[in-house]
Amino acid sequence: MSPLNIVVGITGGIAAYKAVGVVRALVLAGHDVHVVPTEGALRFVGRPTLEAISRNPVHTDLYEGVAEVRHVAIGQAADLIVIAPATANSIAKLATGLADDLLGNTVLASEAPVVIAPAMHTEMWRHPATQANIATLLARGVTVVGPAVGQLTGADSGPGRMEEPDVIVAAALERAAATAPHDLAGRRVVVTAGGTREPLDPVRFLGNRSSGKQGVAIAEAARARGADVTLIAANLEVAHPAGCDVRQVSTALELQQAVTDAARGADVVIMAAAVADYRPADVSESKLKKDAGEGGMTLELVRNPDILAGLGHAPHDGTLLVGFAAETEPDDERLLALGRAKREAKGADVLVVNRVGWTEGFASDENRVVVIGPDGEIVTRAHGTKSSVAHVILDVVVSVSTTSAVAADTTKEHGTT
Ligand code: C5P
Repeated sequence: MSPLNIVVGITGGIAAYKAVGVVRALVLAGHDVHVVPTEGALRFVGRPTLEAISRNPVHTDLYEGVAEVRHVAIGQAADLIVIAPATANSIAKLATGLADDLLGNTVLASEAPVVIAPAMHTEMWRHPATQANIATLLARGVTVVGPAVGQLTGADSGPGRMEEPDVIVAAALERAAATAPHDLAGRRVVVTAGGTREPLDPVRFLGNRSSGKQGVAIAEAARARGADVTLIAANLEVAHPAGCDVRQVSTALELQQAVTDAARGADVVIMAAAVADYRPADVSESKLKKDAGEGGMTLELVRNPDILAGLGHAPHDGTLLVGFAAETEPDDERLLALGRAKREAKGADVLVVNRVGWTEGFASDENRVVVIGPDGEIVTRAHGTKSSVAHVILDVVVSVSTTSAVAADTTKEHGTT
């Protein structure tokens, strides 16, 4: 998912302390989070905590920041509003459309989807007034997460406990994804992910440390943006994404076959997999024995085909090719030069460059990339979760495809071939 501008409204209930977990999870997922607590919320959790965790200033006062029209600016800029906890009082105010504090103004000034996580005592939750207010909010399109059943403040227990932060975050991001633009709708996108394994014998292989996380994140992101996705999965260490046509492969030659089939008629091919450049010349039918070579062993390797270069140098009109260059080069300039040279050598339209090492790149949940466009210039840089990096790469795919489609139309209009 592209990084979102998310407002987290916190209202005055004891569950406010758990809202810190909601803010933290959204920030770690790469989103820009602005916390708007009510005065009541600040009695339960301090402003410095909220500022430190959200990495943004925290405001509550309607009459501060008047010059920047803060009472509407925060809401207008939001892609998503999450209110956790939502007390009975704040739910009543939301249902009535009251704007007597910064949070009320923010909600009224926004067209973003709203997700609330109610938290209160069971009697308050069951009260007809609260239930009527919830019905009003549901009818208005607000997503209501929970409340859960369980231990409340004091000795009470029952329905009314705020849902756990991870449940609220998942529901909120799902709601945001459902309203995200489907700018890849109707496009066929092929993604390779993982790392190939080249067998030496029935139990051993030559492989690499690619987990497949970045490729899977790209497949998931393309699916969320409406694409019809084929994922060529090479020995993934993560779960297969839902809604994609997954084809499992193991070796480079199997990956070549699968991607060549899938690439026919595809609009975009994204080669995120780490493909072995060499494979053992012979694969032993039985397990190689230790004593096969006295004092050492020499393996003979043969070159694997360069699949991306094969696609890039064959006619591929209408198919945008995105390659990756994972390099250990420590110097930024030289890393970029390697990426530029690789894009040209392989005939890729777009090349995503990232640094890998013992601790960087492969197994990590985050990535830092530079994206080089068709003219060899840097289009963008991205740093964040593999999901947010995936969306940035797809933003480039969408903009390059649109530019080339416009260029093709212009060529037609001018009668040039
Ligand atoms: O040459 P290098 O391995 O750095 O190139 C990386 C890019 O080329 C990746 O997009 C990878 O999927 C692709 N590749 C390939 N076939 C190979 C080696 C790499 O398609 N044999």
